[in-house]
Amino acid sequence: MSDKPLILTDPNTDRSVELPVIRGSEGEPTIDIKAVPSKLGYFTYDPGYAATASCTSSITFIDGNRGILRYRGFPIEQLAEKSTFPEVAYLLLHGELPSRSQYDEFLDDITYHTMVPEKLNTFISGFHYDAHPMAMMAGVVGSLAAFYHDRLDMSDPAQRMLAAKRMIAKMPTIAAACYRHHMGWPTAYPPNALNYTERFLHMMFSVPAEVYEVNPVAARAFDLLFILHADHEQNASTSTVRLVGSTGANPYACVAAGISALWGPAHGGANEAVLNMLEAIGDVSQVPTYIDRAKDKDDPFRLMGFGHRVYKNYDPRASIIRTAAHEVLAELGARDPLMDLAMELERIALEDDYFVDKRLYPNVDFYSGIIYKAMGIPKSMFTVMFAIARTVGWVSQWLEQADHPTRIGRPRQVYSGPAERDYIDIGQR
Ligand code: CMC
Repeated sequence: MSDKPLILTDPNTDRSVELPVIRGSEGEPTIDIKAVPSKLGYFTYDPGYAATASCTSSITFIDGNRGILRYRGFPIEQLAEKSTFPEVAYLLLHGELPSRSQYDEFLDDITYHTMVPEKLNTFISGFHYDAHPMAMMAGVVGSLAAFYHDRLDMSDPAQRMLAAKRMIAKMPTIAAACYRHHMGWPTAYPPNALNYTERFLHMMFSVPAEVYEVNPVAARAFDLLFILHADHEQNASTSTVRLVGSTGANPYACVAAGISALWGPAHGGANEAVLNMLEAIGDVSQVPTYIDRAKDKDDPFRLMGFGHRVYKNYDPRASIIRTAAHEVLAELGARDPLMDLAMELERIALEDDYFVDKRLYPNVDFYSGIIYKAMGIPKSMFTVMFAIARTVGWVSQWLEQADHPTRIGRPRQVYSGPAERDYIDIGQR
């Protein structure tokens, strides 16, 4: 049985509008407000879009109250335990898990396209050695539009899919190139005999003078982290990709915009900010001071890696990453005092009324940096790791939007500036 529409009546004019209720496949009710402006003459106001669904999507499902995350219906816990990042990429792009032959073909595709145009290295070398890698990533990925724009017919689904696969394949190559530029190391070309994460680690850390053996613990840990970060429905960066995509812009430009949105500390930049915060806290004895600061309305400090717009329960990705962080540190034989500090911070915060009442829990970024650090990834590259993984989500969402084109994204505003006034000549001001 379908829901009855809601009736919204304007008591000022007695005009009414019927608002249909749409239900997602998991039953969540959503009011379709499209008719409000034309029927009642009002816009709706929702800063930060906390109450607004901007699209329909069949890719990722989140139930923030119950701490549930599913890609194409599959629980994140099962994918984390049983799948691989390339298989998850296939699932997000195509909607189903691949057969063996589909999987092999997909692996070939995302391996074949790992090289980047050689001139891109000239572009990268134009950056100062200490440029933030996220700024480089946004610039370099955006510049791919210049290499592929003329040959891309966006009305052709096969060409759209090729662009998506190219980006998934090239992102680790570009990320490693940005790091190597900072280190002053020569360009590393993708060793295509290795798998996706092994190849990335090889491009990151190998130097011509020595043989580099990829640590299998590190490769598997990256695969897991990439799975967990691959998509997260309409977050700020994905919404950015969709908004830019709604204009018909080139997909590389859309993803470059997504990278820029991801960089902010309220979003993907939080993993770098968490490490900075833990280092600033320095010692377990200082935890209560920082908890007090996070609760103080007059102090801009926030507990980084805590809180989420959608999760009002433990972020399921954070639980998996916390367990993985213990395992990775144990397997690598590494002890990191920041891990003890993070656990103490979490323990105290989860018992504190402020965090309990506001339902603030650790999010995906709280423990991920500790794993990256253990594997030798510098802090400034943490959000780049997120971007490599989230590229799969961005291109999947971009493909979905291109398959079901909507109108250009164009929010309205509540204008709060001056009313009409006459121009005053400069001599009379
Ligand atoms: N520390 C202290 N107080 C917080 C925190 C925090 N980390 N997060 C939220 N609050 C408070 C906030 O001050 C507000 O209090 P009040 O209602 O009294 O004004 C209340 O909790 C609700 O916060 P909000 O800012 O309205 O919530 P939001 O949904 O707009 O923001 C958030 C979500 C993730 C931006 C925010 O929780 C935050 O800034 N967290 C720290 C940064 C972070 O870890 N970001 C990563 C998010 S997960 C990965 C990703 O998206 O990339």
